[in-house]
Amino acid sequence: MNKKIAVVGAGLMGGGIAQACAQAGYQVINIDVYEPALVKAKANIEKLFNKKIDKGTMDEQTKVEIMSRLDYSSSFESLLDVDIVIEAVPEKIELKKEIFSQIDKNTKDDVILVSNTSGLSISEIASATSKPDRVMGVHFFYPAPVMKLVELIKGIATSEETYEVIKEFSLSIGKQVVDCPELPGFIVNRILVPMMNEAAFLVMEGCSPQDVDTAMKLGANHPMGPLELCDFVGIDVMLATMNGLYSGFKDSKYRPCPMLENMVKAGHLGRKSGEGFYKYNR
Ligand SMILES: NC(=O)c1ccc[n+]([C@@H]2O[C@H](COP(=O)([O-])OP(=O)(O)OC[C@H]3O[C@@H](n4cnc5c(N)ncnc54)[C@H](O)[C@@H]3O)[C@@H](O)[C@H]2O)c1
Repeated sequence: MNKKIAVVGAGLMGGGIAQACAQAGYQVINIDVYEPALVKAKANIEKLFNKKIDKGTMDEQTKVEIMSRLDYSSSFESLLDVDIVIEAVPEKIELKKEIFSQIDKNTKDDVILVSNTSGLSISEIASATSKPDRVMGVHFFYPAPVMKLVELIKGIATSEETYEVIKEFSLSIGKQVVDCPELPGFIVNRILVPMMNEAAFLVMEGCSPQDVDTAMKLGANHPMGPLELCDFVGIDVMLATMNGLYSGFKDSKYRPCPMLENMVKAGHLGRKSGEGFYKYNR
């Protein structure tokens, strides 16, 4: 636990990853260029912990201890003494490369750099640094403090030593690890997203969303129907992942359902917009 961790990006994933690391006993600094994101990330954790205290599942002392291990900053200079940097900025390759280059210049030589990308090439991200052997992918799931799985992805240049350090670190924050090829979708999204896409095809062909979801919940024992899940993650996010599989493999079996494209154009993005396959009170 004597390693110091930095999480770059304090959004949905970064804030949660920082929390998971601090809960496991690490000293963590969460960095974001956007000050309000830092304020919100800290407030979200405090709110969550206060709820746990109210429910009797956490005591005040534990909250104080975990919060004392969390720092927030908008300066990359805070990276100078960290051992592992976990990047969680938006899924754009040019942005990630720019940030990795910036992180590279502000960290010590033996740092390990991790990306939480959902599907971009680790080798390409690593190419923006002076130490591609010390870069790898760790794909967390939302919400990061709760979801048990992380997918580990080596780039072409990732060293065995880097892999072993990151595997041990992942286990130390209570995660179960799986090794994934550096291919679009890794394991979970490669299986899950085409299933959601196929569910959208069924609706386009005349099935009701309710029937599709009921069929998968009662016939396949899924806790949530595939279309409920589409609405939950966001139709735009789901379509982007499907497009990533399609362009990554150049295989027609990953063609996105045209209905999803129309839904995105119409602004029907799921829960966050108030309407997707279902309607929601906002
Ligand atoms: N949302 C999910 O369910 C999920 C799950 C697994 C992986 N991911 C991946 O995690 C990454 C982040 O996704 P998210 O949903 O947390 O995004 P988000 O938009 O919620 O957060 C991104 C944060 O990065 C910050 N940021 C932007 N540019 C920056 C810069 N130059 N320096 C520092 N911070 C900067 C933004 O201010 C924002 O707070 C993406 O690569 C995404 O594919 C997302």
